[in-house]
Amino acid sequence: MAVQKLLSLLVFQLVLVAFVLDITNAQGLKVGFYSNTCPNAEKIVKKTVTSFISRSPSLAGPLLRMFFHDCFVRGCDGSVLLNSTSSNQAEKDAFPNLSLRGYPVIDAVKAALEQQCRGVVSCADIIALVARDAVSLTNGPFWQVPTGRRDGRVSKITDALNNLPPPSSSISTLKSTFAAKGLTVKDLVVLSGAHTIGVSHCTSFANRLYNFTGKNDSDPSMDPNYVAQLKTKCKPNDATTIVEMDPGSSEKFDVDYYTLVSKRRGLFQSDAALLSDSTTKAYVQLQLTSKSTFAKDFGASMVNMGKISVLTGKSGEIRKKCYLVN
Ligand code: HEM
Ligand SMILES: *[C@@H]1O[C@H](CO)[C@@H](O)[C@H](O)[C@H]1NC(C)=O
Ligand SMILES: *[C@@H]1O[C@H](CO)[C@@H](O)[C@H](O)[C@H]1NC(C)=O
Ligand SMILES: *[C@@H]1O[C@H](CO)[C@@H](O)[C@H](O)[C@H]1NC(C)=O
Ligand SMILES: *[C@@H]1O[C@H](CO)[C@@H](O)[C@H](O)[C@H]1NC(C)=O
Repeated sequence: MAVQKLLSLLVFQLVLVAFVLDITNAQGLKVGFYSNTCPNAEKIVKKTVTSFISRSPSLAGPLLRMFFHDCFVRGCDGSVLLNSTSSNQAEKDAFPNLSLRGYPVIDAVKAALEQQCRGVVSCADIIALVARDAVSLTNGPFWQVPTGRRDGRVSKITDALNNLPPPSSSISTLKSTFAAKGLTVKDLVVLSGAHTIGVSHCTSFANRLYNFTGKNDSDPSMDPNYVAQLKTKCKPNDATTIVEMDPGSSEKFDVDYYTLVSKRRGLFQSDAALLSDSTTKAYVQLQLTSKSTFAKDFGASMVNMGKISVLTGKSGEIRKKCYLVN
């Protein structure tokens, strides 16, 4: 009897050890993952991104946004890059009018990496490194990116539609969407600061300008002067015009986003919503002072976002081309 008890305890402990190892493995990202297998990987990424962004600075926005869209849909597994096929509509096809740009940058980085270290660096890691470099090349902070992600083999349009919060999101939707990905309220308010760079189509916020509640009205939570200004740029039903989200410095990663939000000039309802929660509101207000922590916080929250449901170890694959499964 006693022997049996001892045995079952031993088995239990073995299972426990295996379980703990497995968790470690699932989070098995580390800074410098490629330092032996592809020592120049991060240099190659940076060189390629620099050459694209110096020619087209407006690419920084879409390249940063790509990491968000990758991580929130099936985890950071490069699924955002896969093309649709005759039998499958991929994530890429989810928002045809508001689609991501910058795929050629990823393809160029991948080609350069394949030339030096064939079959080593994942597309999922490329997105993470490119997003970091896009931020630091636009005057933003630099941070160390844990790597070691592997690429997924599945991409579905419905996953994108169901996992990316719409710009009309309320604070409670945003909080629950982020919590479902293991991110905190602080990550939410910090990562929203990404809207300090880049542009938006009028369609993403036109509801706030025109007929907000069906009474030919505008969103009362937006500064009326800003509403008037935006109406001159965005006529009703304009599906093509784009506007800067941080007017005048949309290619500079700075702390302006929080100034705009505090002045009720955040472009989306999801930006304005950050004033509807005491934690996020306090964070917005702190950024307006000399005690701003945004630059340091942003890297930390990007690292957190970069851990969402990653494939590591022997899961997934290292794609040869980022738009195709092997
Ligand atoms: C909190 C929830 C979020 C919502 C509801 C949201 C929504 C949007 C929308 C609607 C656009 C404009 C798309 C268009 O009309 O072309 C946009 C642009 C952008 N978003 Fe977000 N976003 C969120 C979070 C994030 C996060 C976490 C990041 C990155 C860390 C991010 C980075 C960007 C960037 C850089 C752009 C500009 C893209 C460009 O210049 O083409 N967003 N976002
Ligand atoms: C993959 O899709 C992109 C658009 O997302 C397109 O430009 C490209 O030609 C496609 N590549 C292949 C090989 O189908
Ligand atoms: C405004 O919204 C109301 C209610 O949804 C609708 O009946 C009306 O046609 C809309 N007006 C315009 C100009 O779109
Ligand atoms: C709606 O408001 C605009 C001004 O924003 C005005 O020009 C227009 O006549 C109004 N339409 C209706 C049906 O009230
Ligand atoms: C998307 O764009 C197409 C044409 O480019 C347009 O017909 C359609 O109305 C747009 N949809 C939205 C929601 O703006």
